[in-house]
Amino acid sequence: MQFVDVGREKVMRVNATLVVNSKGGSGKTTITTNLASYFATQDIPTTVMDYDPQGSSLHWLRARTCPGARIYGANAAPQRGGRIRSVEMHVPADTQQLIIDAPAGVSGLLLQEMLNRADRIIIPVAPSAIDIHATANFIRDLLLVGRIRARNIQLAVVANRVRSSMPVYQPLERFLNSLGLPFLTRISDSDAYVKAAEAGIGIFEMDPSAAAAECAQFMPIIEWVGSQRDPAASGDGKVIDLASRRWTERTPGLSSIGFRS
Ligand SMILES: Nc1ncnc2c1ncn2[C@@H]1O[C@H](COP(=O)(O)OP(=O)(O)OP(=O)(O)O)[C@@H](O)[C@H]1O
Ligand SMILES: [Mg+2]
Repeated sequence: MQFVDVGREKVMRVNATLVVNSKGGSGKTTITTNLASYFATQDIPTTVMDYDPQGSSLHWLRARTCPGARIYGANAAPQRGGRIRSVEMHVPADTQQLIIDAPAGVSGLLLQEMLNRADRIIIPVAPSAIDIHATANFIRDLLLVGRIRARNIQLAVVANRVRSSMPVYQPLERFLNSLGLPFLTRISDSDAYVKAAEAGIGIFEMDPSAAAAECAQFMPIIEWVGSQRDPAASGDGKVIDLASRRWTERTPGLSSIGFRS
């Protein structure tokens, strides 16, 4: 949650988290829905905004029958025939946490529109060399977009569907370290996510004995999203001042994963 100055008053402002990776199937919807369901369990007014024409997050939302705080859905997917999106994109005024689910392969104006809304970005990445390479290139392209620097948007990466000890992530971790970007956590490949998705819930709404390990792994994401935007504070005490970095510089971390030049 953030506050903005309006005249003499401080007004609560929505905290907007964009979950994005141009690579398909990396876990964007899974992170989005589980984040939203956690905030719902805390009675925090939450809206999920789905930019994906497949509407997976909104489909999950429609499957929700559990009691408790409601999660609002906003459909931001480009409409056929250029239909106006503004009504379906409405975010209720009391929203404190806005989670934005991006479609695969997003770029150009749609990506810019999402960045305009975002205070922070989570990039889930699956543990394959192809996914890691594609994600590194996506991060580079993202950092070259002026809005990230101008608006000081924070960015962090999450490893998703980790099966065992995965040395395949080491090059990615080196790459992120070289940019000073946090690697928040490793989410295991678990049936709990599949079952939760089918039932329209999140792992935090499951029986604790069924998803204790998953909840513990997911917690660093929640802490990071819930942390202050102030550069002095974050979930792990590490917030990246993107504006202060020179992103076009090549670093040793980039070449170690065959970064596109
Ligand atoms: N940690 C996990 N453990 C088990 N299954 C997972 C996990 N994360 C994602 N999945 C499953 O993998 C599939 C793809 O995940 P998800 O839909 O979240 O990816 P996505 O990035 O949103 O995909 P798309 O690019 O198509 O929008 C889904 O069936 C989902 O249930
Ligand atoms: Mg998705």
